[in-house]
Amino acid sequence: MKLLVIGSGGREHALAWKLAQSDKVEIVFVAPGNAGTARENKLCNINLSDHQQLIQFCFEQEIDFTLVGPEAPLAAGIVDDFTKAGLAIFGPSKYCAQLESSKDFAKAFMTKHGIPTAAYATFSDAQEAHQYIEQKGAPIVIKADGLAAGKGVIVAMTPDEAHQAIDSILLDNSMGSAGARVVIEDYLRGEEASFIVMVDGEHILEMASSQDHKRLLDNDAGPNTGGMGAYSPAPVVTPAVHQRVIDEIIKPTVQGMLAAGHPYRGFLYAGLMIDETGAPYTIEFNCRFGDPETQPIMCRLQTDFVDLLLAALAGKLNETNAVWSEEIAVGVVLAASGYPHSPRRGDIIDGVDLASDNGKIFHAGTSFNADKKLIVSGGRVLCVVGMGQNVAEAQQQAYAALEPIKFKGMQYRNDIAAKALK
Ligand code: AMP
Ligand code: GLY
Repeated sequence: MKLLVIGSGGREHALAWKLAQSDKVEIVFVAPGNAGTARENKLCNINLSDHQQLIQFCFEQEIDFTLVGPEAPLAAGIVDDFTKAGLAIFGPSKYCAQLESSKDFAKAFMTKHGIPTAAYATFSDAQEAHQYIEQKGAPIVIKADGLAAGKGVIVAMTPDEAHQAIDSILLDNSMGSAGARVVIEDYLRGEEASFIVMVDGEHILEMASSQDHKRLLDNDAGPNTGGMGAYSPAPVVTPAVHQRVIDEIIKPTVQGMLAAGHPYRGFLYAGLMIDETGAPYTIEFNCRFGDPETQPIMCRLQTDFVDLLLAALAGKLNETNAVWSEEIAVGVVLAASGYPHSPRRGDIIDGVDLASDNGKIFHAGTSFNADKKLIVSGGRVLCVVGMGQNVAEAQQQAYAALEPIKFKGMQYRNDIAAKALK
């Protein structure tokens, strides 16, 4: 089979790498990919992003199916365009992708279907937003309505911070059109987890649980990022919590979309806050796999990933099963100098080839310069995954594997998966 993966991050490297392990697969094209996918066995980068050009490529190459990694092409309707052209593609339609591309859509949907989430209100008028904050007090959470690449959320611990966030988003347009409206929601307490499932329109297949590390610095300090590391499984998702997430969040979402005449097909990611009683709340929906959650999760998948996707495309996920390694996987992100606000590009990366023996190294923001040297070309640069019989061993593997890797200003957290040790 010939497959196509859309995207260029660590998530796409991991998805394409896993697909390529299938005996059924001859080649996986990655559009546009990165320096890691350029060097990986059975993967091949193609430099296309326009939907019509991608569609033409699929016909020319006789691509069996396409898998979409990131949210932006989904929100732009890539699945609708491919489907119209008669091509097989796994991901949600533009309508369904609103669960991620509009926080207001997601909150209204959750309210309508009784899905647990923080109480909220939506504003486009700054004065009204200020009044609401005065009423509510702090801590309180301010979110740009639209896609903001993980930078659209301000967790305000004081009313002052909240008022500033409103002015910055609604008056100074700091987030552009993504910030034309803001959602203001109650602050939730608890432990976070990422709950990702495959959906074929009707049936659900759970992926392994995981936990992301959103803050830049150790002990959850510093600004929010796209994710500085992840591990799988996440012990906070006990079997009881798992069942509640399925019953209270995932099933009502899938059924709600079906009832609206827009069956959800694709990965569905619920970002959860689990309170001390074990009750799960939805912080957000993503309409795709998580990054960096994908990297450790794919390292634990033992079932042929192609079979799972074929079942999903055929609407037969109920006839499949995913088998996960008993091992723990810990993924540590190496980020560029200046990440998340202004990542510096161009720094030369050393030591990646020395590191490959201990853990699996997934590339994200990497490319080659004119001298064919590996360089930094994005905020999150690499994700190094270690595996072990327990959390400590997996951590040791990951940190040992990243030891030889060096680039100027490299940032990483030293405490990925520390929560799972407790
Ligand atoms: P989001 O992009 O919606 O996932 O938000 C980014 C991060 O902000 C989350 O991972 C949480 O750590 C935090 N956050 C978002 N919403 C809330 C909330 N209602 N209460 C507490 N923390 C939140
Ligand atoms: N790691 C969080 C996300 O993929 O949105």
